[in-house]
Amino acid sequence: MSGDCDFGLIGLAVMGENLALNVESRGYKVAVYNRTTSKVDDLMEGRAKGKNFVGTHTIEEFVKSVKRPRKLMMLVKAGPAVDALIEQLLPHCEPGDIIIDGGNEYYLHTERRVKEVEAAGLLYVGCGVSGGEEGALKGPSLMPGGSAEAWPHIKEMFQSIAAKVGPNDDIPCCEWLGAGGAGNYVKMVHNGIEYGDMQLICEAYQLLHELGGLTNDELYDVFEAWNAGELQSYLIEITRDIFSVKDEQGDGHLVDKILDVAGAKGTGKWMSQLALDLGVPSTLVTTAVFARGLSAQKEARVRASETLNGPSAASNPEMQAIAKSLVGDRAEFVEAVRQALYASKIVSYAQGFVQLQAASAEHGWGLDYGAAALLWRGGCIIRAQFLDRIKEAFDKDANLENLLLDEYFEKAVENAQEKWRKVVAVASIMGIPVPAFSTALCYYDGYRMARLPANLLQAQRDYFGAHTYQRTDQDGTFHTEWIQLRKEPKA
Ligand code: 6PG
Repeated sequence: MSGDCDFGLIGLAVMGENLALNVESRGYKVAVYNRTTSKVDDLMEGRAKGKNFVGTHTIEEFVKSVKRPRKLMMLVKAGPAVDALIEQLLPHCEPGDIIIDGGNEYYLHTERRVKEVEAAGLLYVGCGVSGGEEGALKGPSLMPGGSAEAWPHIKEMFQSIAAKVGPNDDIPCCEWLGAGGAGNYVKMVHNGIEYGDMQLICEAYQLLHELGGLTNDELYDVFEAWNAGELQSYLIEITRDIFSVKDEQGDGHLVDKILDVAGAKGTGKWMSQLALDLGVPSTLVTTAVFARGLSAQKEARVRASETLNGPSAASNPEMQAIAKSLVGDRAEFVEAVRQALYASKIVSYAQGFVQLQAASAEHGWGLDYGAAALLWRGGCIIRAQFLDRIKEAFDKDANLENLLLDEYFEKAVENAQEKWRKVVAVASIMGIPVPAFSTALCYYDGYRMARLPANLLQAQRDYFGAHTYQRTDQDGTFHTEWIQLRKEPKA
């Protein structure tokens, strides 16, 4: 028996509720279910009242109320809750039905579930959903992957609810990404890039505030101006807005009252761990994760601040003179920071795509990088105009080895690098930590270096552990008895 709903959604927290309302608003009839069934009743009596919804109170009733092949989407906490739910769904589903997970799930869990659910004769999709509460309601970025057979069934609906971009606002930020956990992996890289973007913005803020002496009102104006140029993005826009918000419980701006301890749910950590597994240097995300970690050691930092010395930006005229000679007056400093931010951001995205390429090669996903860039063009947290350029770069060369090698980005970094170097130098002279700005610069310098000091490193490994090395002038593997050949130490 099956009902007449076009779609079913389980998990009525804010994201789930908003996504269900979005689907209904595009002309679909939606069944909803939540483990705490009072949430179903609240929705039916509240935001769904008078709309094309069916509220259900058991999993069986939920499944049966949807047309075959059923499209059943879960928006619940990632991990064991998803496995438990699949187990409850399967006995009521029929062959060909599609189970979709919209959570921030670890991609290997999705790889496993695709196999398990397909073995039961059904189809499974792990779909990254980005855009927060508002995105879910008005148009998120959707990153589906899993059982390829599911795509023709969900394509129209998913593309209709997704954010739209392009000159006519008709290109959906939703495209099939590939088999297994490809969709979750792309969403994880989105989040890792989000971590990098946020850390870079925070470093710009600290520089402008502590070194440049900009007030929150002035920062508002700076971010407003930045948002009108090549840095235009959702994260720059919300940062601008944050600088305008006053504390309702006291004087001044709210941002100044917020404890400097960053939270994290784990997707940045996953991307960092997987970068290490793949051996790709995704240093922006790892640095951003570690920066959050250091921020969380608040009490230790407060103690250390009483003991450990460094240059004080405010009280050292000599340092200030050096800084001024490097970056000029205040307006020039603001512009230098903007350029450092832009160049670092390019490196961050370049690293994200290199990781995607390595993961795609490992899993045989055949990812379309231009499509991934387009999915991030609208709806999601990292949405930015500059993703059009990334899409163009991959349209020109689908196998582009590194975004930094694309003509547009090569020139952009070329133009920004003088100021970028000066900003990193000034920050270090003045004792302001800029881990993301500097790791981005080190990656750029390392990547463009034909010869790195790894020759010495190989010699060290061979010296103490006979780990062998290769030569630049001969093929083969070599080992040297370094102790026999070395100069005798003096004592
Ligand atoms: C999105 C966000 C979303 C979530 C982050 C927050 O794309 O809509 O990325 O997925 O807000 O996971 O991550 P942290 O809590 O780790 O900062």
